[in-house]
Amino acid sequence: MEEMMRRFTLIGNLEDRPMTRLELLTQVGQAEALAVTLADTVDTELLSHAGRLRVVAVYAAGYNNIDLQAATARGIMVTNTPDVLTETTADLTWGLMLAVARKIPEGERLVREARWSGWAPTHVLGSEVHGRTLGIVGMGRIGRAVARRAPGFGMPVLYSSRRALGRDEEQRFNAQAVSLPDLLTAADFVSLHVPLTEHTRHLIGKKELALMRSTAFLINTARGAVVDEAALAEALASGRPAGAGLDVYEHEPDIHPALLRLSNVVLLPHLGSSTAQARLRMGMMVIENITAVLSGGQPPNRVM
Ligand code: DGY
Repeated sequence: MEEMMRRFTLIGNLEDRPMTRLELLTQVGQAEALAVTLADTVDTELLSHAGRLRVVAVYAAGYNNIDLQAATARGIMVTNTPDVLTETTADLTWGLMLAVARKIPEGERLVREARWSGWAPTHVLGSEVHGRTLGIVGMGRIGRAVARRAPGFGMPVLYSSRRALGRDEEQRFNAQAVSLPDLLTAADFVSLHVPLTEHTRHLIGKKELALMRSTAFLINTARGAVVDEAALAEALASGRPAGAGLDVYEHEPDIHPALLRLSNVVLLPHLGSSTAQARLRMGMMVIENITAVLSGGQPPNRVM
């Protein structure tokens, strides 16, 4: 924010929250650049209020909340913050895998609530992580960063993706490309890393969940709507898959009430990129993108 204030005249919201829709609609008319979060919808209505706008700089890697066609039609560039949060989000993905399989939040609650009466042979039994098969849906930047960590856990990788890994990466990650149904049937952990598009909305629904093993776990640090949340709640309640680790939801910040009642799901509040270091890198990238456009150049991270 200090750097932004140094370079630009800031209008709008300087607080630690996304703007309300009303704030956006009433103030965007003055702006040449708009820095938005993943919670802001940039659509035709908003853009029709934005007569001076030259760039929408998204403070996220994902930009499913932006109507790219409408922006392009008005000559407005759109930028995002790729790369700088890749490893950070991959770390959290592994955190969720470990948390749900080893029941880390459940154990922590027991201790804090003074319900731990001492070591016992079958107390809070989890599932092994090392040596199991990791399925990665979407082998983009974050998918690859998750795969790169798998050899450390001795985990073979199955992946389904539009883009294939190179031979050397497949060897390094012990990874094999398979179809999505084959991945769902065989993997012990299924981790989602596709962007949200019209093709990936509800990619994982009732039919796909039924293919998963009753001992498997679903992990989602991508976008909530890649999974049919109601179908997931139903599947988890019936015990197939065994559990889920979720960082993202279909209608954030609302979460399907049935998920909140289940004990075999670990729920985080969209923390994928939330480290002080990553958020600073993202912010600086937003600033560089805006600076480039306003000085008549090409932004380093233009998506459209
Ligand atoms: C992204 O960049 O898309 C992340 O979800 C933000 O935390």
